[in-house]
Amino acid sequence: MLERVEARLAGFLAGERREWAELNPDAVELVDCVAHMVASGGKRLRPSFCIAAYLAAGGDPASDQAVDAAAALELLHTSALLHDDVFDASELRRNEPTAHMRHATLHTDRGWHGEARRYGESVAILAGNLGLVYAQRLMDGSSPHARRVWGELCTELMVGQFLDVRAAARFQPDVPLARWIALFKSGRYTVSRPLALGAALAGGSPRLLAAFEEYGLAVGEAFQLRDDLLDAFGSAEVTGKPARLDFKQHKMTLLMSFALSDEPEVRALVGDDLPGTDPDELHALLIRTGIRDRVEAVIAERLKVADEAVSTALPPAWAAQLHAMAQAAVYREK
Ligand code: IPE
Ligand code: IPE
Ligand code: MG
Ligand code: MG
Ligand code: MG
Repeated sequence: MLERVEARLAGFLAGERREWAELNPDAVELVDCVAHMVASGGKRLRPSFCIAAYLAAGGDPASDQAVDAAAALELLHTSALLHDDVFDASELRRNEPTAHMRHATLHTDRGWHGEARRYGESVAILAGNLGLVYAQRLMDGSSPHARRVWGELCTELMVGQFLDVRAAARFQPDVPLARWIALFKSGRYTVSRPLALGAALAGGSPRLLAAFEEYGLAVGEAFQLRDDLLDAFGSAEVTGKPARLDFKQHKMTLLMSFALSDEPEVRALVGDDLPGTDPDELHALLIRTGIRDRVEAVIAERLKVADEAVSTALPPAWAAQLHAMAQAAVYREK
Protein backbone atom coordinates (compact mmCIF):
# COMPACT_ATOMS: atom_id res chain seq x y z
CA MET A 1 0.00 0.00 0.00
CA LEU A 2 2.87 2.38 0.72
CA GLU A 3 4.13 1.79 -2.80
CA ARG A 4 0.71 2.77 -4.10
CA VAL A 5 0.91 5.93 -1.98
CA GLU A 6 4.16 6.84 -3.78
CA ALA A 7 2.57 6.16 -7.16
CA ARG A 8 -0.47 8.25 -6.22
CA LEU A 9 1.70 11.19 -5.18
CA ALA A 10 3.85 11.01 -8.31
CA GLY A 11 0.87 10.48 -10.63
CA PHE A 12 -1.16 13.29 -9.12
CA LEU A 13 1.70 15.77 -9.32
CA ALA A 14 2.65 14.70 -12.86
CA GLY A 15 -0.97 15.26 -13.92
CA GLU A 16 -0.98 18.75 -12.42
CA ARG A 17 2.32 19.50 -14.09
CA ARG A 18 1.01 18.45 -17.51
CA GLU A 19 -2.16 20.49 -17.12
CA TRP A 20 -0.30 23.63 -16.12
CA ALA A 21 2.39 23.18 -18.77
CA GLU A 22 -0.38 23.51 -21.34
CA LEU A 23 -2.12 26.43 -19.66
CA ASN A 24 0.97 28.44 -18.81
CA PRO A 25 4.46 26.92 -18.78
CA ASP A 26 5.75 29.45 -16.22
CA ALA A 27 3.25 28.08 -13.70
CA VAL A 28 5.05 24.74 -13.70
CA GLU A 29 7.72 26.22 -11.42
CA LEU A 30 5.18 26.39 -8.60
CA VAL A 31 3.94 22.82 -9.09
CA ASP A 32 7.58 21.70 -9.24
CA CYS A 33 8.29 23.40 -5.95
CA VAL A 34 5.70 21.13 -4.30
CA ALA A 35 6.85 18.07 -6.28
CA HIS A 36 10.49 18.72 -5.41
CA MET A 37 9.73 18.65 -1.69
CA VAL A 38 7.62 15.51 -2.02
CA ALA A 39 10.46 13.73 -3.84
CA SER A 40 13.32 14.94 -1.64
CA GLY A 41 13.54 11.97 0.72
CA GLY A 42 11.15 12.30 3.65
CA LYS A 43 10.69 9.38 6.03
CA ARG A 44 6.95 9.06 5.16
CA LEU A 45 5.98 8.65 8.81
CA ARG A 46 2.47 10.00 8.38
CA PRO A 47 1.46 7.71 5.49
CA SER A 48 2.99 4.77 7.37
CA PHE A 49 0.98 5.38 10.54
CA CYS A 50 -2.19 5.89 8.51
CA ILE A 51 -1.79 2.67 6.53
CA ALA A 52 -0.77 0.67 9.61
CA ALA A 53 -3.91 1.75 11.48
CA TYR A 54 -6.05 1.06 8.44
CA LEU A 55 -4.76 -2.49 8.10
CA ALA A 56 -4.71 -3.16 11.85
CA ALA A 57 -8.37 -2.13 11.95
CA GLY A 58 -9.19 -4.65 9.23
CA GLY A 59 -9.35 -2.31 6.21
CA ASP A 60 -9.43 -3.80 2.71
CA PRO A 61 -5.90 -3.57 1.22
CA ALA A 62 -7.35 -3.32 -2.30
CA SER A 63 -9.26 -0.11 -1.56
CA ASP A 64 -7.83 3.22 -2.68
CA GLN A 65 -9.35 5.41 0.02
CA ALA A 66 -6.60 4.84 2.55
CA VAL A 67 -3.96 5.27 -0.17
CA ASP A 68 -5.43 8.66 -1.05
CA ALA A 69 -5.62 9.69 2.61
CA ALA A 70 -2.00 8.65 3.18
CA ALA A 71 -0.91 10.62 0.10
CA ALA A 72 -2.92 13.59 1.38
CA LEU A 73 -1.05 13.41 4.69
CA GLU A 74 2.29 13.60 2.90
CA LEU A 75 1.12 16.59 0.86
CA LEU A 76 -0.09 18.34 3.98
CA HIS A 77 3.30 17.65 5.58
CA THR A 78 4.95 19.08 2.47
CA SER A 79 2.85 22.21 2.84
CA ALA A 80 3.72 22.47 6.53
CA LEU A 81 7.45 22.15 5.81
CA LEU A 82 7.42 24.79 3.06
CA HIS A 83 5.76 27.24 5.43
CA ASP A 84 7.73 26.17 8.50
CA ASP A 85 11.05 26.86 6.80
CA VAL A 86 9.89 30.42 6.11
CA PHE A 87 8.75 30.93 9.72
CA ASP A 88 11.97 29.47 11.10
CA ALA A 89 14.24 31.20 8.53
CA SER A 90 15.76 27.81 7.81
CA GLU A 91 18.26 27.46 5.01
CA LEU A 92 18.42 23.69 4.82
CA ARG A 93 15.85 20.91 4.46
CA ARG A 94 16.69 17.30 3.65
CA ASN A 95 20.26 18.31 2.85
CA GLU A 96 19.26 20.89 0.26
CA PRO A 97 18.66 24.64 0.32
CA THR A 98 15.06 25.30 1.39
CA ALA A 99 12.45 26.31 -1.20
CA HIS A 100 12.42 29.98 -0.20
CA MET A 101 16.22 30.10 -0.43
CA ARG A 102 16.31 28.39 -3.84
CA HIS A 103 13.75 30.76 -5.30
CA ALA A 104 15.49 33.79 -3.81
CA THR A 105 18.67 32.61 -5.53
CA LEU A 106 16.79 32.14 -8.80
CA HIS A 107 15.49 35.70 -8.49
CA THR A 108 19.03 37.01 -8.04
CA ASP A 109 20.51 34.84 -10.80
CA ARG A 110 17.88 36.03 -13.25
CA GLY A 111 18.59 39.67 -12.39
CA TRP A 112 14.93 40.24 -11.57
CA HIS A 113 13.34 43.30 -9.93
CA GLY A 114 12.38 43.70 -6.27
CA GLU A 115 13.65 41.94 -3.17
CA ALA A 116 14.98 38.43 -3.76
CA ARG A 117 14.13 37.34 -0.21
CA ARG A 118 10.52 38.46 -0.48
CA TYR A 119 10.19 36.75 -3.84
CA GLY A 120 11.58 33.47 -2.48
CA GLU A 121 9.30 33.57 0.55
CA SER A 122 6.29 34.39 -1.63
CA VAL A 123 6.95 31.35 -3.80
CA ALA A 124 7.35 29.09 -0.73
CA ILE A 125 4.10 30.39 0.81
CA LEU A 126 2.22 29.85 -2.44
CA ALA A 127 3.70 26.39 -2.96
CA GLY A 128 2.74 25.53 0.63
CA ASN A 129 -0.81 26.67 -0.03
CA LEU A 130 -0.89 24.68 -3.25
CA GLY A 131 0.27 21.57 -1.38
CA LEU A 132 -2.55 22.07 1.12
CA VAL A 133 -5.13 22.39 -1.65
CA TYR A 134 -3.78 19.25 -3.32
CA ALA A 135 -3.99 17.41 -0.01
CA GLN A 136 -7.58 18.56 0.38
CA ARG A 137 -8.41 17.34 -3.12
CA LEU A 138 -7.11 13.87 -2.27
CA MET A 139 -9.41 13.84 0.75
CA ASP A 140 -12.53 14.82 -1.19
CA GLY A 141 -13.59 11.22 -1.81
CA SER A 142 -13.10 10.16 1.82
CA SER A 143 -15.84 9.21 4.27
CA PRO A 144 -17.50 11.94 6.38
CA HIS A 145 -15.85 10.50 9.53
CA ALA A 146 -12.40 10.59 7.91
CA ARG A 147 -12.98 14.13 6.66
CA ARG A 148 -13.89 15.24 10.18
CA VAL A 149 -10.61 13.80 11.47
CA TRP A 150 -8.81 15.53 8.61
CA GLY A 151 -10.36 18.90 9.45
CA GLU A 152 -9.23 18.59 13.05
CA LEU A 153 -5.74 17.52 12.00
CA CYS A 154 -5.31 20.57 9.74
CA THR A 155 -6.67 22.99 12.32
CA GLU A 156 -4.44 21.64 15.08
CA LEU A 157 -1.37 21.99 12.91
CA MET A 158 -2.09 25.65 12.15
CA VAL A 159 -2.87 26.50 15.77
CA GLY A 160 0.18 24.57 16.96
CA GLN A 161 2.47 26.39 14.54
CA PHE A 162 0.97 29.73 15.59
CA LEU A 163 1.62 28.96 19.25
CA ASP A 164 5.17 27.86 18.39
CA VAL A 165 6.03 31.20 16.76
CA ARG A 166 4.12 33.07 19.48
CA ALA A 167 5.96 31.31 22.31
CA ALA A 168 9.28 31.99 20.58
CA ALA A 169 8.45 35.68 20.32
CA ARG A 170 7.34 35.84 23.95
CA PHE A 171 10.24 33.70 25.21
CA GLN A 172 8.87 32.81 28.66
CA PRO A 173 9.72 29.32 29.92
CA ASP A 174 6.52 27.33 30.30
CA VAL A 175 6.73 23.55 30.59
CA PRO A 176 3.05 22.66 30.03
CA LEU A 177 2.83 25.06 27.09
CA ALA A 178 6.00 23.64 25.50
CA ARG A 179 4.55 20.12 25.72
CA TRP A 180 1.25 21.31 24.32
CA ILE A 181 2.98 22.96 21.36
CA ALA A 182 5.03 19.83 20.57
CA LEU A 183 1.82 17.88 20.40
CA PHE A 184 -0.25 20.34 18.39
CA LYS A 185 2.32 21.59 15.87
CA SER A 186 3.70 18.13 15.25
CA GLY A 187 2.74 15.08 17.32
CA ARG A 188 -0.93 15.07 16.44
CA TYR A 189 -0.59 15.51 12.68
CA THR A 190 2.36 13.09 12.59
CA VAL A 191 1.03 10.18 14.63
CA SER A 192 -2.31 10.33 16.44
CA ARG A 193 -4.40 11.82 13.63
CA PRO A 194 -2.93 9.67 10.83
CA LEU A 195 -3.79 6.63 12.96
CA ALA A 196 -7.29 7.98 13.59
CA LEU A 197 -7.70 8.64 9.88
CA GLY A 198 -6.66 5.11 8.89
CA ALA A 199 -8.85 3.57 11.59
CA ALA A 200 -11.82 5.75 10.60
CA LEU A 201 -11.53 4.59 6.98
CA ALA A 202 -11.43 0.95 8.07
CA GLY A 203 -14.36 1.39 10.48
CA GLY A 204 -12.32 0.45 13.57
CA SER A 205 -14.03 -0.22 16.91
CA PRO A 206 -14.21 2.52 19.58
CA ARG A 207 -11.82 0.45 21.72
CA LEU A 208 -9.25 0.36 18.92
CA LEU A 209 -9.67 4.07 18.25
CA ALA A 210 -9.07 4.84 21.92
CA ALA A 211 -5.90 2.72 21.96
CA PHE A 212 -4.59 4.46 18.82
CA GLU A 213 -5.33 7.82 20.39
CA GLU A 214 -3.38 7.03 23.55
CA TYR A 215 -0.49 5.49 21.61
CA GLY A 216 -0.53 8.27 19.00
CA LEU A 217 -0.42 11.16 21.44
CA ALA A 218 2.43 9.54 23.35
CA VAL A 219 4.51 8.65 20.27
CA GLY A 220 3.66 11.98 18.63
CA GLU A 221 4.96 13.99 21.56
CA ALA A 222 8.07 11.82 21.84
CA PHE A 223 8.67 12.25 18.09
CA GLN A 224 8.75 16.05 18.40
CA LEU A 225 10.89 15.96 21.57
CA ARG A 226 13.40 13.90 19.58
CA ASP A 227 13.26 16.48 16.80
CA ASP A 228 14.08 19.17 19.37
CA LEU A 229 17.00 17.13 20.75
CA LEU A 230 18.34 16.51 17.23
CA ASP A 231 18.18 20.24 16.59
CA ALA A 232 20.14 20.99 19.77
CA PHE A 233 22.58 18.07 19.82
CA GLY A 234 22.62 16.57 16.30
CA SER A 235 24.59 17.66 13.27
CA ALA A 236 23.37 19.16 10.00
CA GLU A 237 25.30 16.53 8.01
CA VAL A 238 23.14 13.81 9.53
CA THR A 239 19.75 15.53 10.00
CA GLY A 240 19.85 17.50 6.73
CA LYS A 241 18.57 20.52 8.67
CA PRO A 242 20.58 23.37 10.27
CA ALA A 243 21.97 22.47 13.69
CA ARG A 244 20.93 24.57 16.70
CA LEU A 245 18.41 26.59 14.72
CA ASP A 246 15.97 26.47 17.65
CA PHE A 247 18.49 28.42 19.76
CA LYS A 248 18.89 30.98 17.01
CA GLN A 249 15.13 31.29 16.69
CA HIS A 250 14.65 31.41 20.52
CA LYS A 251 12.18 28.52 20.37
CA MET A 252 10.52 27.71 23.68
CA THR A 253 10.95 23.94 23.41
CA LEU A 254 10.55 21.62 26.38
CA LEU A 255 14.36 21.48 26.53
CA MET A 256 14.61 25.27 26.94
CA SER A 257 11.61 25.44 29.25
CA PHE A 258 13.17 22.88 31.61
CA ALA A 259 16.52 24.65 31.38
CA LEU A 260 15.29 28.19 31.96
CA SER A 261 12.75 27.26 34.65
CA ASP A 262 14.97 24.97 36.70
CA GLU A 263 18.65 25.66 36.00
CA PRO A 264 20.05 28.94 37.36
CA GLU A 265 23.30 28.32 35.46
CA VAL A 266 21.47 28.19 32.14
CA ARG A 267 19.39 31.21 33.09
CA ALA A 268 22.55 33.15 33.90
CA LEU A 269 24.22 32.14 30.63
CA VAL A 270 21.23 32.83 28.38
CA GLY A 271 19.66 35.86 30.09
CA ASP A 272 17.15 37.29 27.68
CA ASP A 273 19.23 36.55 24.59
CA LEU A 274 19.20 32.93 23.45
CA PRO A 275 20.33 33.72 19.88
CA GLY A 276 23.28 35.68 21.31
CA THR A 277 24.34 32.86 23.64
CA ASP A 278 27.42 30.84 22.68
CA PRO A 279 25.80 27.66 21.32
CA ASP A 280 28.77 25.44 22.26
CA GLU A 281 28.72 26.61 25.86
CA LEU A 282 24.95 26.16 26.06
CA HIS A 283 25.19 22.75 24.44
CA ALA A 284 27.73 21.59 27.05
CA LEU A 285 25.73 23.08 29.93
CA LEU A 286 22.49 21.39 28.88
CA ILE A 287 24.31 18.07 28.99
CA ARG A 288 26.21 18.69 32.25
CA THR A 289 23.14 19.87 34.15
CA GLY A 290 21.16 16.82 33.05
CA ILE A 291 18.57 18.83 31.12
CA ARG A 292 19.02 16.74 27.99
CA ASP A 293 18.55 13.57 30.07
CA ARG A 294 15.31 14.96 31.49
CA VAL A 295 13.90 15.29 27.98
CA GLU A 296 15.15 11.76 27.20
CA ALA A 297 13.30 10.56 30.31
CA VAL A 298 10.05 12.14 29.11
CA ILE A 299 10.55 10.43 25.74
CA ALA A 300 11.11 7.04 27.40
CA GLU A 301 8.10 7.48 29.66
CA ARG A 302 5.91 8.38 26.65
CA LEU A 303 7.01 5.27 24.78
CA LYS A 304 6.12 3.08 27.74
CA VAL A 305 2.62 4.54 27.75
CA ALA A 306 2.39 3.93 24.00
CA ASP A 307 3.42 0.28 24.29
CA GLU A 308 0.93 -0.36 27.06
CA ALA A 309 -1.89 1.24 25.08
CA VAL A 310 -1.48 -1.07 22.10
CA SER A 311 -0.39 -4.24 23.89
CA THR A 312 -3.82 -4.78 25.43
CA ALA A 313 -6.01 -3.56 22.57
CA LEU A 314 -4.30 -5.14 19.55
CA PRO A 315 -3.30 -8.64 18.47
CA PRO A 316 0.37 -9.35 19.35
CA ALA A 317 1.65 -9.04 15.78
CA TRP A 318 0.16 -5.55 15.39
CA ALA A 319 1.29 -4.51 18.87
CA ALA A 320 4.83 -5.55 17.88
CA GLN A 321 4.59 -3.67 14.59
CA LEU A 322 3.44 -0.48 16.32
CA HIS A 323 6.16 -0.88 18.94
CA ALA A 324 8.77 -1.08 16.16
CA MET A 325 7.27 1.95 14.39
CA ALA A 326 7.37 3.98 17.61
CA GLN A 327 11.01 3.06 18.21
CA ALA A 328 11.93 4.01 14.64
CA ALA A 329 10.08 7.35 14.85
CA VAL A 330 11.61 8.30 18.17
CA TYR A 331 15.09 6.72 18.40
CA ARG A 332 16.40 8.07 15.13
CA GLU A 333 19.36 10.08 13.92
CA LYS A 334 17.50 12.22 11.37
C1 IPE B 1 9.90 17.14 10.26
O1 IPE B 1 9.19 15.97 10.13
C2 IPE B 1 8.98 18.20 10.73
C3 IPE B 1 8.42 17.94 12.06
C4 IPE B 1 7.15 17.81 12.27
C5 IPE B 1 9.32 17.85 13.18
P1 IPE B 1 9.91 14.59 9.71
O2 IPE B 1 11.02 14.30 10.66
O3 IPE B 1 8.87 13.55 9.55
O4 IPE B 1 10.53 15.00 8.31
P2 IPE B 1 10.78 14.16 6.97
O5 IPE B 1 9.49 14.18 6.22
O6 IPE B 1 11.20 12.78 7.33
O7 IPE B 1 11.83 14.94 6.27
C1 IPE C 1 7.73 21.97 12.75
O1 IPE C 1 8.52 21.83 13.86
C2 IPE C 1 6.50 21.25 12.64
C3 IPE C 1 5.93 21.42 11.28
C4 IPE C 1 6.59 21.42 10.17
C5 IPE C 1 4.51 21.58 11.21
P1 IPE C 1 10.03 22.23 13.58
O2 IPE C 1 10.14 23.62 13.11
O3 IPE C 1 10.81 21.85 14.78
O4 IPE C 1 10.39 21.22 12.39
P2 IPE C 1 11.80 21.18 11.66
O5 IPE C 1 12.81 20.91 12.74
O6 IPE C 1 11.99 22.48 10.99
O7 IPE C 1 11.68 20.03 10.70
MG1 MG D 1 11.40 24.31 11.55
MG1 MG E 1 9.04 25.36 13.24
MG1 MG F 1 12.74 21.05 14.72
